[in-house]
Amino acid sequence: MTGSSAKRLKKKSRALKPFSIRNKVVPRASFPLPGDKSIAHRALILSALSRGKAILKNFPFHDDSLATLKALENLGVKIQAGKNEVCVRGRGLRGLRPCRGEVFADNSGTTLRLLLGVLAGFDFKTRVTAGKYLSRRPMSRVNIPLRLMGARIVSRLRGGEEYAPVTISGGNLKGIDYSLKIASAQVKSAILLAGLFAAGRTRVRESLKTRDHTERMLKAFGAGICVKGKAVTLVPGREFSAPERIYIPGDISSASFFMVLAAAIPGSRVRLKGVGLNPGRSGIIGVLKRMGARIKISPASSGSLKNFEPFGDILVCGGALKGAVVESREIPSLIDELPVLMVAACFARGRTLIKGAGELRFKETDRINSMVFNLKRMGADIRILKSGPLENISIDGRGRLRGADLKSFGDHRTAMSMVVAGLASGEKFKLDDTGCINKSFPGFIEAVKRACGI
Ligand code: S3P
Repeated sequence: MTGSSAKRLKKKSRALKPFSIRNKVVPRASFPLPGDKSIAHRALILSALSRGKAILKNFPFHDDSLATLKALENLGVKIQAGKNEVCVRGRGLRGLRPCRGEVFADNSGTTLRLLLGVLAGFDFKTRVTAGKYLSRRPMSRVNIPLRLMGARIVSRLRGGEEYAPVTISGGNLKGIDYSLKIASAQVKSAILLAGLFAAGRTRVRESLKTRDHTERMLKAFGAGICVKGKAVTLVPGREFSAPERIYIPGDISSASFFMVLAAAIPGSRVRLKGVGLNPGRSGIIGVLKRMGARIKISPASSGSLKNFEPFGDILVCGGALKGAVVESREIPSLIDELPVLMVAACFARGRTLIKGAGELRFKETDRINSMVFNLKRMGADIRILKSGPLENISIDGRGRLRGADLKSFGDHRTAMSMVVAGLASGEKFKLDDTGCINKSFPGFIEAVKRACGI
């Protein structure tokens, strides 16, 4: 730990950074991944609300985690940053202070939605603002249940939907029994976090199970939480304490780009070390295996759990891929990996059908639109089939794509997926911007170059 205040951590510049290459590559590498983004947000928030000091190891310093870190500092939490770790001095459950000015969530949906859950527990007023991309994402999904718990929330209204900025004041909450209308771990987590401050128990019911990092971490911190099937019950009233050290496993969403890059290029061999293998996040492994990818998982020994999160190494070797069906119920476990799975489907032979992918339209950009635009430019046979409210994506893979001029749409996962598509095509391609990748994986382009020997 350097002792430097985290406040000095600067967001990397967002000037457009084009990327262009014409090499044929065969990735062969073995490396660890930066810590999981979803877990990092939760570790910061729960450490801030607990008593004592917590050191978060393998902490990923990207725009999204910095948004949560700076927001918490603004609310009175002392955080120090080291090389790959941060130290959070918890203020206890009731210890946040009103901020001077506003809290800025940048473009991080997890920051905004989870913090609203926390701020619902405090009687002071906070205005939370957002960057250009997050300001276009729907907020009523989280505002509605928090209002039912007693929070007072005002946000920008447009066409019957609510958007940031959001002004919230809370306190005096009551527990609710709430069935999620949309499969969303952010909404589930916001309700559970608010439940920590409520009178009476809070129960969240899911129809499709989403990532359970919040539940696992609450348990690790000693909060009163019980999971039975698809229902999570939180019993408030306990002050909790952070484990002294919280190890954040490698981010499987970041790993997924290298998994597909290796799977799609014959002769490749990539080992991704220390990656989180939470079943609520690792759906991509099963789908790639069904597509015929050669994948070997080595779960870590010594209990295989760090702070209740399983992790291990993933080895992927290149070979022939075939089309597969992705069922709606699998979507939450691979929602962030769908763009790169669409790329994998193009390098497979035969039809891939992804069912119930409509939530992709509500991410940093409309990812159905951004991926269809780019993959069509590369010659893909990709179609959107609507059946009622469901959107299915059908891709007739031909085992190849051609080089093209590609667009990131300001979205990190579209950008990384298109780097994978371009490299696997073996043809010259150009991507207009890679600066947006700083949102979740600032070292991505360097890691790709190292893995491919470029
Ligand atoms: C996240 C949940 C997912 C995911 C996002 C991170 C989280 O969003 O897409 O990248 O950390 O809880 P939704 O809750 O909107 O599905």
